[in-house]
Amino acid sequence: MTNSTFDIIVIGGGPGGYVAAIRAAQLGFKVAVIEKHSNLGGTCLNVGCIPSKALLYSTELYHTIAHKAASNGIIVKGLSPDLPALMTKKNQVVDQLRNGIKALLKANKIDVIHASAQIISPTQVKAGNNVLNTKNIIIATGSQVIELPFLKFDGKIVVSSDDAIAFDSIPEKIVVVGAGAIGLELGSVWSRLGSDVTIVELLPRVAITFDHEISKMAERIFKKQGIKFELDAKVTGIKTKAKTTILTAEKAGKELEFPADKIIVCVGRKPFTEGLGLENLGIERDKQGRIVTDNHFKTNVPGIFAIGDVTDGPMLAHKAEEEGVALAELIAGKSGHVNYTIIPNVIYTDPELASVGISEQEAKEQGLQVKIGKFPFAANGRALASDASEGMVKVIADAKNDKLLGVQIIGRHASELIAPAVAHMEYGGSAEDLARTIAAHPTLAETLKEAALALDGRAIHAI
Ligand code: FAD
Ligand code: NAI
Repeated sequence: MTNSTFDIIVIGGGPGGYVAAIRAAQLGFKVAVIEKHSNLGGTCLNVGCIPSKALLYSTELYHTIAHKAASNGIIVKGLSPDLPALMTKKNQVVDQLRNGIKALLKANKIDVIHASAQIISPTQVKAGNNVLNTKNIIIATGSQVIELPFLKFDGKIVVSSDDAIAFDSIPEKIVVVGAGAIGLELGSVWSRLGSDVTIVELLPRVAITFDHEISKMAERIFKKQGIKFELDAKVTGIKTKAKTTILTAEKAGKELEFPADKIIVCVGRKPFTEGLGLENLGIERDKQGRIVTDNHFKTNVPGIFAIGDVTDGPMLAHKAEEEGVALAELIAGKSGHVNYTIIPNVIYTDPELASVGISEQEAKEQGLQVKIGKFPFAANGRALASDASEGMVKVIADAKNDKLLGVQIIGRHASELIAPAVAHMEYGGSAEDLARTIAAHPTLAETLKEAALALDGRAIHAI
């Protein structure tokens, strides 16, 4: 490998990096991916999106059988979770996808080097003992968990999501710090398996990035499912009493105590750039440590680009992937582009939360006059027939020209229902366009159409 020369070297084999590499290879470039782990797929495949969704699916199935089988005329006896089998299923899914990515890179004739990469100059990258020459460098090194200084990870009791997707027994009492995407998803997983879960959150709402009405409804539904919430509570540390670990928090001047077998800390992630040699090259980073790029993913050093979690913007796999594609196309002289205003955001709980564009509150903050249309899942035939009556769709449109500004959904399959809303917004669609799009009957998609109709008081199945 010594003295190899590439058109593009991608550092990081996560969704940003490997997707950029594939698109670049499709465009005729000679590409290498350097990944320090023995597996490709990054955070998303190995400890993020995919393992968490496998656990969410298996535990939702278990929960549904436990709570809905009888009312659907199904008699189940001796139901219990088999944690090792559940983890095996999750691991098999991850393995299959790891092999899939490996095969894709091979088919696209991309060189994969498993080593820690260090950038020596804008045209040279060190990978282990080899120095590789290149015309362009793409940094896609992702992110890592944030550790609270007074709540250090010990891998046993105080853990991150990396550990919480792989517990080897079902903990009795779990305290989750942070009611964001990870807290709600992993809190749901373990609560469904029987753990007593309390989520402690600094802010007054769960799922803070969503519309207030949606996050309030989510909180109410999750509470009904058995998850406890302590909102507006500032975590202060841990102590031990009679061999029990206790998380402490402060709320309205009072100290709260939460005994726990496991404390899952999920208070966000931070960009990962250690060992890359950015300091030597003078590559600019912001106060949060994110690599600063322009709208063509260029860093301040010519020939070096950055995409994904290591840069500004939502830390989402599809954001990283879209940036990877756009960047490869820009390097090829094409007009690669990411529409940041319509990146969908999903939390994969039951019900799911999904949004695109801006919320009612954000629209008002921006001084926009809006029209709102809402439709409850409880008024949808398919939802009722499939035990999915909890939820609502909220459509936000500009009062002046009817342009869709945002769609917020809480309900079964919200992650899929948001896709047509994203497409309408991509084409600059109006609420009327959404209202006139035919949805098959009976489908949950009818809720989206009805919410758009409700904007002008025309919903058919709601008063
Ligand atoms: P990463 O996936 O982090 O990949 C970066 C890669 O770079 C890693 O493989 C790393 O080993 C490698 N690397 C770093 N430094 C070097 C170096 N010097 N040399 C060589 N290699 C290096 N997002 C969603 O959109 N949907 C979800 O459902 C979702 N669920 C999540 C659940 C959890 C529990 C977590 C933690 C995250 C989740 N995310 C989800 C976020 C998603 O995983 C990230 O946004 C995404 O992985 C970012 O992709 P990336 O390519 O930028 O970085
Ligand atoms: P997050 O940013 O989604 O949520 C963190 C929560 O922790 C916030 O509500 C915050 O107010 C709270 N918090 C911060 N400090 C706190 C403290 N000291 N005490 C109590 N609460 C505190 O971060 P999370 O859940 O760790 O996820 C990290 C990233 O991974 C997210 O940015 C998200 O984009 C991505 N992710 C995406 C998923 C998805 O798309 N479904 C699933 C899981 C993760």
